[in-house]
Amino acid sequence: MSVIQVFGLTPLEGEISIQGSKNAVLPMAAASLLHRGITVLTNVPVIRDVACMVDILEYLGARCCHKGDCLVIDARHITGTSIPEKYVTAMRSSIVVLSALLGRMGEGRSCYPGGCLIGARPIDLHLMALEALGAEIKEHDGLIEARCRNKEGLKGTEIHLPYPSVGATEQAILASVLAKEVTVIHGAAKEPEISQLCRFLNNMGAVICGMGTDHVMIQGVEELHDSSFRVEGDRIVAGTYAAAVMAATGSITLKEVRAAELELPLEMLKRSGASVRKDSCCRQIRIEMKKRPQPLDIRTGPYPEFPTDLQSPYMAFLASGQGTSTIVEQVFEGRFATAKALGQMGAVVETEGQRAVIKGSYPLKGADVYASDLRGGAALAVAALAAEGKTLINDCRHIERGYEDICRDMAALGADIRWLDK
Ligand code: UD1
Repeated sequence: MSVIQVFGLTPLEGEISIQGSKNAVLPMAAASLLHRGITVLTNVPVIRDVACMVDILEYLGARCCHKGDCLVIDARHITGTSIPEKYVTAMRSSIVVLSALLGRMGEGRSCYPGGCLIGARPIDLHLMALEALGAEIKEHDGLIEARCRNKEGLKGTEIHLPYPSVGATEQAILASVLAKEVTVIHGAAKEPEISQLCRFLNNMGAVICGMGTDHVMIQGVEELHDSSFRVEGDRIVAGTYAAAVMAATGSITLKEVRAAELELPLEMLKRSGASVRKDSCCRQIRIEMKKRPQPLDIRTGPYPEFPTDLQSPYMAFLASGQGTSTIVEQVFEGRFATAKALGQMGAVVETEGQRAVIKGSYPLKGADVYASDLRGGAALAVAALAAEGKTLINDCRHIERGYEDICRDMAALGADIRWLDK
């Protein structure tokens, strides 16, 4: 079991480069199945979720090579059409492979991804989009079987998403790239990772426009071509380290990240007392924090609202601040699990339904805690920086799903943090 040890109360100082975006690279790797050739991705983070996606692609017949930050996917010979259960349970987002299989093979199978700690996470919108594009979906015994109704494959249509689901938008885009005629997705998710996915696909020969707006249009093409694409920096990892300097105080520079993708989270840091300097042309953000965080009222929501993935790291620094903050979680219904572990560290957090009330107190106190999910685990590392004494964060495999090496990065900024067991 991987364990992180932190001794808090050291201010952070220095600069680090932010790893490539997990949520961008996963659908891109899945989309590589649509091309009967080679796809090269660079700035790919070395994290568990990428390894899981590589395992899936290899299981289906692709040959992959992930060396350093470069991932080469040779999808000339794809033989499989089923995503094995162990991968879907390890990483829910593997369900996006279903649309790539439909586009490439005319059929795909997956088990039903169950709920997880942060909420029920249904996939009704994913399946609705695939059906609209001409897939026949059969569900039995927890299995989903998708097959093109028509021999010629999927056919473009108008899809109306009642909620801008990131996964459903990705699923609809991947299924439309090789479909006949035009697809319009109304009510599409506007997350930067969706825009990036579309730019990646266009670079492979797809014809997509409107990304970053509510209406994404895809003109189906016959085939794609070999391509190479550099993945952008991970805005959520950058936001986590921004939360870290809020908890620890100090002054840090985050490199290789687009400040424009973090507009509201950075605005919140300013309201909480930080000085934030964005250098858009150099893709750098400098954050300086000299006092205890001032209280905030945060509501999560689809982009460009406040990202649910930063909710726990922000809760962690607010718990070590002054005054009373509130957080309303509007995306996932069960995303306050970390509040309990923060409580063990002396934080005063009360949750009721989708609302959390946080009464700042400083310093927090070191404790023996468990990471319950990816972002929640990272949030405990943030809180530990504002805690007196030793914190042990157990079960850090969740953190390794999304952070290349949270100890390497925080230690490079001067934190007293290290892996005890990895
Ligand atoms: C993605 C991100 C995740 C982020 C989330 C919201 C990846 C790999 N994961 O997850 O890190 O927290 O976006 O920004 O990119 N919903 C339905 N039916 C559906 C699909 C979703 O009801 O068919 C609901 C979900 O239960 C949830 C909400 O919509 O309450 C948002 O989910 P969605 O945007 O789809 O998030 P994910 O794609 O799962």
